Amino acid sequence: MWFKNLREDIKAAKRNDPAARNWFEIWLTYSGVHALSWHRVAYFFHKIKLKLIARIISQTARFFTGIEIHPAAKIEGGVFIDHGSGVVIGETAEVHKGTVIYQGVTLGGTGKERGKRHPTIMENVTLSAGAKVLGGFTVGKGAKIGAGAVVLKEVPPYATVVGVPGRIVRIRTPETEDATHSGIIAVTALNAELKAEELEAREEEAKEKARIAEEERSKKK
Ligand SMILES: CC(C)(COP(=O)(O)OP(=O)(O)OC[C@H]1O[C@@H](n2cnc3c(N)ncnc32)[C@H](O)[C@@H]1OP(=O)(O)O)[C@@H](O)C(=O)NCCC(=O)NCCS
Repeated sequence: MWFKNLREDIKAAKRNDPAARNWFEIWLTYSGVHALSWHRVAYFFHKIKLKLIARIISQTARFFTGIEIHPAAKIEGGVFIDHGSGVVIGETAEVHKGTVIYQGVTLGGTGKERGKRHPTIMENVTLSAGAKVLGGFTVGKGAKIGAGAVVLKEVPPYATVVGVPGRIVRIRTPETEDATHSGIIAVTALNAELKAEELEAREEEAKEKARIAEEERSKKK
């Protein structure tokens, strides 16, 4: 299993890095591949409840690679961490195969949640340099998170999210790859739907506040 995952990681590096020359060089020099291999050992120790050993392994890997992965994070084989420095992956994060993670990415919590508080990244997602994905939601397959974006909400499959806070600017499914017009229509419809939901929620909140105020007034009388 460990070797199968290593093979998948090396394949992912070869597929995603035009500068990658051959398997041996990738295995020997790619810090993202090293970090994932160390993580699998740490994950094993974490699973058999030797948590201190798991922690020591993950912190040693961090020292050498600049990539910090909590020993409990679930990462499939075939993920590519490019450059690596400054990548942080939290305890309850899940990363599925085909995902590419660039330097400075954080898969973190907002600090307000308990339990599942780090994101689930589905297959073939691109997490660009410096992107922060914060919270226990899902980033759908094939999504692209732009460099420097801060994502705080669920991302639908094949969406491109940019900016702070992250907003959807495009949905480009494999079918609409060339016909981006349909993608743009889908984004407009989705944004309209989200706006309608937000307005509805605000209206409900205002009604609730008015009801509480009314109750308090009648109590005073
Ligand atoms: C998001 C990204 C992956 C492109 O995805 P895409 O689906 O092809 O999106 P597009 O390039 O069509 O851009 C869509 C819109 O978002 C804007 N945009 C793209 N990336 C952005 C970013 N990081 N921040 C803000 N806006 C961005 C574009 O200007 C465009 O706006 P427009 O529609 O008003 O013209 C890419 O822009 C990006 O951020 N790449 C960084 C990759 C990286 O980290 N490389 C480091 C290697 S060391």
